[in-house]
Amino acid sequence: MKKQSLTHRLRRVRKSPSIRDLVAENTLSATEFIQPIFVTDKRKGKQEIASMPGIFSYSLTALLIHIEELLKFNISTILLFPLVDADKKDKYGSLSRDRDFYYFEIIKKIKSNFPEITIATDVALDPYTDHGHDGVLEGSIILNDETLPLLADMAVAQAEAGADIVAPSDMMDGRVAFIRRELDNHGFTDVLIMSYSAKYASAFYGPFRGALGSSILKGDKKTYQMDYRNGDEALREAKLDLDEGADIIIVKPGLAYIDVVKSFSDNLNAIVAVYNVSGEYTMLKLANDKGFLNYESCVLEIFYAFKRAGANIIISYSALEVAKTLSGS
Ligand code: PBG
Repeated sequence: MKKQSLTHRLRRVRKSPSIRDLVAENTLSATEFIQPIFVTDKRKGKQEIASMPGIFSYSLTALLIHIEELLKFNISTILLFPLVDADKKDKYGSLSRDRDFYYFEIIKKIKSNFPEITIATDVALDPYTDHGHDGVLEGSIILNDETLPLLADMAVAQAEAGADIVAPSDMMDGRVAFIRRELDNHGFTDVLIMSYSAKYASAFYGPFRGALGSSILKGDKKTYQMDYRNGDEALREAKLDLDEGADIIIVKPGLAYIDVVKSFSDNLNAIVAVYNVSGEYTMLKLANDKGFLNYESCVLEIFYAFKRAGANIIISYSALEVAKTLSGS
């Protein structure tokens, strides 16, 4: 059949893998990934998290092996979450600031074994409180200003142990400024604050709460985490955090909030991270295990969506697997 003369044939740029690579608008690099990791002082080795197939909690020895593998695939930033026994939790989450807490020992050990690794730590009370809320609970109210000094002391304790980045995920007002001041007062002027600026009250955190045993006993987190009906409000949150001294701002969860990532990237001259949360991970894993879709392909597609939306950093349980895919192994 005679060829038509068409001025535009967009299929030309999709003709071969080489041309597709040539014109690709986005690239992925494992150096911009952060791997969240659950740590424990309990068992030897590692133990699978029931609500997150393929994700483990690591004791120190297993953790060091895991980090070696991450480094091999160019991931050098980790975000550490400690598992806390129910009988160590209390009303004020005291363990989070107890300098003898095993978490701090683990941070020190990682640092002495791998000085090149960047350690980020989560700042919020919920893994440590018996009520599972991120702040001080009085009656049914989460007290904002009473929570701030506790968060700041937790951040200082983490910095003392060697954390390079503290990541407040509590959503109390004014916490970035408060934490920045306390870190500076203690000489930790070089410790970064990666703030969960747009952290939504999301049901996608379900598997994570299962892992940490931090499922809230009563109520929800809607008086501090953001309402998912709002997008513009996220910009106000982010601007405040940046004014208060946040070095990196996080949007969380990722998939259902990709518009917020785009809006941060378009409107703010800031470093934007996206947190691809536990629920997003587990959905894909389970669907893959049932043979309904291919996890590896879907995850790559999602990571590129984050890049298209303008994310500079991707925090994801899938980070290592994607890094392996990128390296061709
Ligand atoms: C603690 C915290 C949560 C997550 C990260 N830090 C849970 C929550 O706010 O309830 C969720 C992470 C995930 O689902 O992967 N404030």
